[in-house]
Amino acid sequence: MAQPIARRLLVVGGSGFLGSHICKLAANKGWETVSLSRRGEPELFKQYGKPDWAEKVQWAQGDSLDPASYKDLIKDVTNVVHTVGILMENDYKNIAQAQTLCEAASGVPRIILGMNDQGNPLDPKSNDRPRPTYEMMNRDTATTIADEVAKLDSIRSFTYISASDVFPLIDPRYITTKREAERYLFRHDEFKTVVLRPGFMYNVQRPSAVPIAGALQFINAVTSPFKKGIASLPLGKFITTPPLQTEQVARAVIAGIETEEAGIFDVEGIEQLSRVTI
Ligand SMILES: NC(=O)c1ccc[n+]([C@@H]2O[C@H](COP(=O)([O-])OP(=O)(O)OC[C@H]3O[C@@H](n4cnc5c(N)ncnc54)[C@H](OP(=O)(O)O)[C@@H]3O)[C@@H](O)[C@H]2O)c1
Repeated sequence: MAQPIARRLLVVGGSGFLGSHICKLAANKGWETVSLSRRGEPELFKQYGKPDWAEKVQWAQGDSLDPASYKDLIKDVTNVVHTVGILMENDYKNIAQAQTLCEAASGVPRIILGMNDQGNPLDPKSNDRPRPTYEMMNRDTATTIADEVAKLDSIRSFTYISASDVFPLIDPRYITTKREAERYLFRHDEFKTVVLRPGFMYNVQRPSAVPIAGALQFINAVTSPFKKGIASLPLGKFITTPPLQTEQVARAVIAGIETEEAGIFDVEGIEQLSRVTI
């Protein structure tokens, strides 16, 4: 009988909305799983307690833009999944992590007006932190770590969570920086590159996303016979692209690693990959 391959998986942004689901599946498969993020353990554990699977994950602190902060951590890594990224440069966290739709909506005018959340002006650390840009978060966090893991003999694959070009009213640099990162990764031949391009993602841990996903699923079902015509209208791509649960995307990530797939997977491809049972 074939022996299971020993894996050491590094999930960059493993404490995030999608990253934590990837860590959960990988740890439950018995893979050695390391999460890298600036704050370490997910904030949710402070609120709701630490689940059993999380005890099997190493929750490391480090910044993917700063190789010295994860130099020792990447030793013997076989597979990397990169899940860092921002949809908006202004106040994105407050909106994305809002607990209700009202809370999320209250942040929207600030974004439209281009007002930055500069944090607490009395916090002495606030001036040291550079403002996150699309270039830094969507592209450089991936290219920096890719250059580092490419030096390892153990490295086999790099999975990059990109995005479909469906989001309305978002700066085009959101997608151009994602595409720049994709092209950069495919130029590395030390590892196989897998790119997943989800549209809107949801689960109950981000309550503001659930009603949006419900509305999108309903509109999707109603408009499916006219999908092609509607997709070319303003907002058309957003309303005709099915939302994906984070669990579904995480299953596709794991299947992509196990099947040693390479290439680009759009929403339909992610749905298919998530159904592959290994
Ligand atoms: N959410 C959606 O609907 C959606 C749709 C399409 C595509 N995507 C893409 O999917 C990916 C995952 O999205 P998400 O919603 O799960 O994101 P998220 O919840 O914001 O998680 C991002 C994670 O990255 C970590 N991080 C940020 N900067 C870092 C750095 N410099 N070094 C190391 N870790 C860093 C964060 O933790 P710390 O802050 O502690 O470092 C966090 O764990 C992103 O690339 C996003 O663009 C999301």
